[in-house]
Amino acid sequence: DEHLHKARKSENTSSPHGRPAAFRVHPATRFEGKFPFYRQPKDIGCFSLDADRFFYNDKSQLKWLYMPENVNKVNFNLRHGYKVFRKRDDSVKDYIDDLLRWILVNRKKFLLPGQDEVCDGAFPPNLHTDFVCWRGLLTKLLCTPYENKDGWLIGVTKFNGTYYMCEYDTPEKIAERETMSERQDEMCYWGYKFEQHMVAAKPDSQPDTCVPVSNYEAFCLVVRGRLKEHSLVFAGETDCYDTKEKCYVELKTSREIYQPNQDRNFKRFKLIKWWAQSFLPAVPKVICGFRDDDGVVRQLKTYRTLDMPNIAKDIPNPWDPAVCMNFCDQFLTFVKQVVRKDDPKIVYMFKWYPRQDITWTEHPQDSKFTFLPSWFTDPDQQ
Ligand code: A3P
Ligand code: MG
Ligand code: MG
Repeated sequence: DEHLHKARKSENTSSPHGRPAAFRVHPATRFEGKFPFYRQPKDIGCFSLDADRFFYNDKSQLKWLYMPENVNKVNFNLRHGYKVFRKRDDSVKDYIDDLLRWILVNRKKFLLPGQDEVCDGAFPPNLHTDFVCWRGLLTKLLCTPYENKDGWLIGVTKFNGTYYMCEYDTPEKIAERETMSERQDEMCYWGYKFEQHMVAAKPDSQPDTCVPVSNYEAFCLVVRGRLKEHSLVFAGETDCYDTKEKCYVELKTSREIYQPNQDRNFKRFKLIKWWAQSFLPAVPKVICGFRDDDGVVRQLKTYRTLDMPNIAKDIPNPWDPAVCMNFCDQFLTFVKQVVRKDDPKIVYMFKWYPRQDITWTEHPQDSKFTFLPSWFTDPDQQ
């Protein structure tokens, strides 16, 4: 009886068609165990988006870290310039078009050794890659076992053997954006203003904090990784490069910490996101500007990505990076079981809400969810 019970517990609910109907997320302990194989991720390219979100297959938007002399005595007022913030309309969906543009321009990078021509008839050529997506989607997957606030919606299309994954806004996220207070909007600005204080446009120049802040421009790294059986190609917006340590660096802001509960919340809810975001592309460090409630940063602190799980270990029931990675691995396996039809217009929508199982629905060719553009899938449009 106990044996049966155990067997049932470990299985996902099965549908009559032999495909699992749902994927169990909780309790998170079911993903405990050894840290899964995650091959050292490799940068395979990059691209830039300019002030008009125009695509460039280069690193023109890469910024260079500018580290102040005394990290304990900085004085950045992040409220400056909020009125002239050039802010993107984040209700306009991005899909994965820029990533697809990069793939088309760099299709040679997907050839197998010995293969020197893109000539297998299929277009785009077979990428020899299981999953293509934004890094942010993988960050969300890694954090899912411990997330209790925001759910997610992920559309998946299988095309020429590759699973393309694209995030959609949940109704809750849309509502949140529409009811955002002026204060919340300003606090979003603070993160970008902080970046402006910390980066320069050239390796030997200084930050220019007088020009209006804009979040249109972006520099994105494209990374190849492997999580057990799953090969991945993902792109992630990357804040800057540190010439001294020869590595990319992620910049963050956070509220100054005075109380034990602030420390626990920082470790439980923030560090996990920072870790997941930077661990995936092997960005080795995060520099945090600690700010007060008036948006003034007085101290900078560097966190090593690989140290973050240890730093967070002294809270009750800490998050476990092995759980994050095992969950992600098993979810990707689930996606491969569910997504059967190889068709650029069909979307399988995966839905998750905190404390619930992951469920999915299949959407036909003419649904509003189709996200692979015909310029990517149709050889006649090349
Ligand atoms: P902070 O994280 O310092 O607040 P990133 O850190 O990923 O490079 O993002 C830069 C800034 O964009 C963030 O700075 C924050 O201000 C804003 N930002 C990023 N993700 C966001 C989200 N999901 N919602 C609102 N603002 C976000
Ligand atoms: Mg960034
Ligand atoms: Mg950042």
